[in-house]
Amino acid sequence: MAGITRRAAAAGLAAAGCAPAGRVPAQTGDGPGLRVLARARGAVFGTAIRAVQLREDAALRALVAREAELLVPEWETKWDTLQPQEGRFDFSGLQDIVNHAAAANQRLRGHTLVWHEAMPPWLAPALAEGPARAQRLLEEHCRVVLGTTVTVIRDWDVVNEPIANPPGADHPAPGPGDLRDTPWRRALGPDYVELALRIARQQDCTLRLTVNDYGVEADTPWAADKRARLLRLCRRLLERGAPLDAIGIQAHLQMRHPFRAEPFIAFLQELRGMGLALAVTEMDVREPDALAPTLEARDEAVAAFTETFLRAALEGGVRSFLVWGLSDRDSWLVSMPGVRRWDGVATRGHPFDEQLRPKPMRAAFARAFG
Ligand code: G3I
Repeated sequence: MAGITRRAAAAGLAAAGCAPAGRVPAQTGDGPGLRVLARARGAVFGTAIRAVQLREDAALRALVAREAELLVPEWETKWDTLQPQEGRFDFSGLQDIVNHAAAANQRLRGHTLVWHEAMPPWLAPALAEGPARAQRLLEEHCRVVLGTTVTVIRDWDVVNEPIANPPGADHPAPGPGDLRDTPWRRALGPDYVELALRIARQQDCTLRLTVNDYGVEADTPWAADKRARLLRLCRRLLERGAPLDAIGIQAHLQMRHPFRAEPFIAFLQELRGMGLALAVTEMDVREPDALAPTLEARDEAVAAFTETFLRAALEGGVRSFLVWGLSDRDSWLVSMPGVRRWDGVATRGHPFDEQLRPKPMRAAFARAFG
């Protein structure tokens, strides 16, 4: 199978009359993009994106090129997209994103090799056939996916959301021990995170291997419990010599949960003390149940919450910040059942509004990087 390369992607774009890699202006009439402001701070800013958005939404495409240095495919590096049927791999969506990233001089990270969601229908029954079959499937997926993307993706969420949600969390799922009960855990046993990391490392010893999770940011008993569970997992993995390089903190923040910098910074410092790199990987903000009376006031409140969080993350040693979508247009916060607001109001949880105009949240990023 042909690998995905930036050079091939850039050549394809040149043939199509698009700008070659590295020529995207770092600054426009609107001032420097967040990617430039982050760089000045020694940080990286990026966003999740879907291939279809880049193909069909020229304005969003231009915004992403200006603002983001790092892209993570929202769908295109998940198992259901990459291996919809056993043994049939489809990199077409990812190739589209790689092409655009090459033109905008952007890097990519991969998300995700092991997750209990975004599984094609055939996968869970196949995993249930037993550990030997499950391990072979994971090895083959990693061999093909990491082999194909080797020159364009150097950082992978190897395991996504392995930690169980403690009692009190939005969707409590305590699980046996610290880990979530998933088809992967059931098939491969409680050491499946370590196994997945080792398989990925075996494929390429220079990749950055990340475990990514959510629900560890708030100042609540259940978030503290989840932080403790994640810390225990990291300690155990490192004691056993597992190849874990980084922790991804999703940061799907909710303003109805309190946030306090101190416990969050202490948690980040503990991870850093273990030698782990840190990244905020999927940041967005859900507004509180009781909304301020005007859009301006709502946006200012989101921005203040954002800035407090970002400053804490920076102080805790995070230097990589991805939002889960740049704009309120087409946001999963609005489209996904169970996540969208009970009152039908569209939450304004991204740095740009539906018309792609910068909001105070975007200014909060700029100030935090400043
Ligand atoms: O596969 C079909 C595609 O063929 C079709 O064109 C499209 C039309 O809507 O639907 C596609 O399925 C979508 C699927 O993602 C693709 O994997 C579903 O509609 C869509 O609801 C689904 O949701 C995504 C979800 O992950 C599962 O992959 C969300 O867009 C995405 O924002 C969400 O992202 C997760 C992170 O990966 C992990 N952390 C939480 C975050 C939010 O849930």
